[in-house]
Amino acid sequence: MIEELIRQNRSCRRFHQDQPVSRETLLGLVNLARLSASAANLQPLKYVLSFEPQLNAHIFSCLAWAGYLKDWPGPAEGERPAAYIVILGDREITTNVGCDHGIAAQSILLGAREQGLGGCMVGSIKKDRLREMFDLSESYDILLVIALGRPKEEVVLTDVGLDGSIKYWRDEAGVHYVPKRTLEEIIIK
Ligand SMILES: Cc1cc2nc3c(=O)[nH]c(=O)nc-3n(C[C@H](O)[C@H](O)[C@H](O)COP(=O)(O)O)c2cc1C
Repeated sequence: MIEELIRQNRSCRRFHQDQPVSRETLLGLVNLARLSASAANLQPLKYVLSFEPQLNAHIFSCLAWAGYLKDWPGPAEGERPAAYIVILGDREITTNVGCDHGIAAQSILLGAREQGLGGCMVGSIKKDRLREMFDLSESYDILLVIALGRPKEEVVLTDVGLDGSIKYWRDEAGVHYVPKRTLEEIIIK
């Protein structure tokens, strides 16, 4: 079951923008992050929730999408995320969050997937712009944005092929393919 959930938990970048994600849903997802592992149990992560069109549009303007898809500027109006969770590091707790935000993000995305939602971690962020929009003090590091919504795209996992390329790609029908390295390649001893 966990393998199936992880297989289905693909980065999704096109959504039914008109299908809202409620504040309660976001709270439930952040609760999964709250219950997850944290180095030295410091729990330095803090969160900003966005689920309203105007704030969503502001956040969207700070993000970059799918760098390998050179001809695709990111989701068009109508296919943009319906909600976001911004993950912050509270520098007053620690300046070294380790990999806590990755763990939190995965918990959030697995929880979202289980509910039929989809999402994408976005690390390419215009952080200064986002900081200004939310009037965030310098005591918070902006670590990751998680985009969320009802998926409007098909994503297919493949093995990395003979050419060795790890670049995701799309076919003419818009299906998104994600090559993963094989187990044989990644277990080195
Ligand atoms: C830390 C991190 C940062 C990422 N940043 C971005 C990003 O800025 N924009 C984007 O479109 N995808 C981003 N992604 C999604 C990756 O591109 C995606 O995980 C990868 O293509 C593999 O696809 P999969 O998630 O379906 O396995 C990020 C993923 C991770 C883990």
